[in-house]
Amino acid sequence: MTVFPEDFTWGAATAAYQIEGAAAEDGRGPSVWDDFCRTPGKVLNGDTGDVAVDHYHRYRDDVALMAELGLSAYRFSISWSRVLPDGAGAPNPAGLDFYRRLVDELLEAGVQPWPTLYHWDLPSALEKAGGWPERDTAHRFADYAALVHQALGDRVRHWTTVNEPWCAAFLGYASGEHAPGRRDAAASLDAAHHLMVGHGLAVQAMRAQQPGNRFGAAVNLYAVSPATDDPADLDAARRIDGLQNRFFLDPLLLGRYPEDVLADLEPFGFAPADAGTIAQPLDQLGVNYYTRHTVSGVPGEATQAVSSPFSAHSPWVGAEHVRFVPGGRPVTGMGWEIDAPGLRETLARVAREYPAVPLYVTENGAGYDEHLNGDGTVHDAGRVAYLDAHLRACHGAIADGVPLRGYFTWSLLDNFEWAWGYSKRFGLVHVDYATQRRVPKDSARWYAEVIRRGAL
Ligand code: FCB
Repeated sequence: MTVFPEDFTWGAATAAYQIEGAAAEDGRGPSVWDDFCRTPGKVLNGDTGDVAVDHYHRYRDDVALMAELGLSAYRFSISWSRVLPDGAGAPNPAGLDFYRRLVDELLEAGVQPWPTLYHWDLPSALEKAGGWPERDTAHRFADYAALVHQALGDRVRHWTTVNEPWCAAFLGYASGEHAPGRRDAAASLDAAHHLMVGHGLAVQAMRAQQPGNRFGAAVNLYAVSPATDDPADLDAARRIDGLQNRFFLDPLLLGRYPEDVLADLEPFGFAPADAGTIAQPLDQLGVNYYTRHTVSGVPGEATQAVSSPFSAHSPWVGAEHVRFVPGGRPVTGMGWEIDAPGLRETLARVAREYPAVPLYVTENGAGYDEHLNGDGTVHDAGRVAYLDAHLRACHGAIADGVPLRGYFTWSLLDNFEWAWGYSKRFGLVHVDYATQRRVPKDSARWYAEVIRRGAL
């Protein structure tokens, strides 16, 4: 039997824009995702998060579902523009109150609240003022973090600042596949840096208020392999690992950007003092893991790095000649290769190459295009197999000595999958988007049983 430590955290994750809906209710201001969804051609089928899965009104039922599953923790994100409609200035009491009620409900149900302060929904007013490429946004983020933490810090112990800064910076500002949809390589690097600075400033501000809380960020890490041992492929793997993994891990945990990546990215630069601001001591690091990148280099050829239905621009600033090639593994409904050993490898690598910090898998899961059967069942054997394999990888990492303390599956509920709209379902729980009816899938029952036994 594959038994997990007794105090292992068993969770599921969501994000505000993907589930809340109530986009224009109770004083919420618009975010870049509201604007992006209204830009023709940006989101599949013109879908929006206006209603999403109506979690804003149904949070009590959703917390009851979590309790039924036996979750020990729930990772959700806070909508900045619900709390501060203009991104700064006067808070919206109804917005803060929603998160107070959610936290109370969770605590009452015995589920630990794990809020993330930024899961990509920048208030539109701040984007109008320049967005993440502007340094001021990092300061506004720290003010917002302090405000939310002031309201909830007495009852919430674990705090995540930013989610997947790679996506926010490079999909948002370089390839334009995500909000705000800009295509400006230089701006995307400044955005990445300011997301990091914002993280550091927010940790400083929150820690000053409640030193006993636990603070961290959630980064999307990938296993990266060269297609062959040809030097061009090895260099491609170095670049992609550099941009995807080390460009965030190094400043967060080592207090510097990787030299080789800085050389690739010249003339990108930053104020030296920022390195110290970013590298606040962390109490936890969130690792979001989905797949492996296999890459090859084509010397002298300016091939686009990724295939994207939305844009011919690449998020791989400084590595536009790198090609992403199939690694020969089965794929999920997203077309992402399933590579559970890559999770063990990724966790071991973080533990080996960086100072010790408690690790949590803050996202891991599989998206498919699934259907509810007439008898009210959803047989999602693919998801069960995916989760089983990745939890075994987590168990293996713990056996290797990795300080892995918990696992959050993405996602609790089917939801708005960004540029894919509602076409991809990641939930343990099926949602009928017309009626909002929730139906636990086979994977929900399976996960509940794993949690109950603490073992696979
Ligand atoms: C991650 C995001 C999350 C979800 C999953 C599938 O990159 O953080 O919101 O969309 O991918």
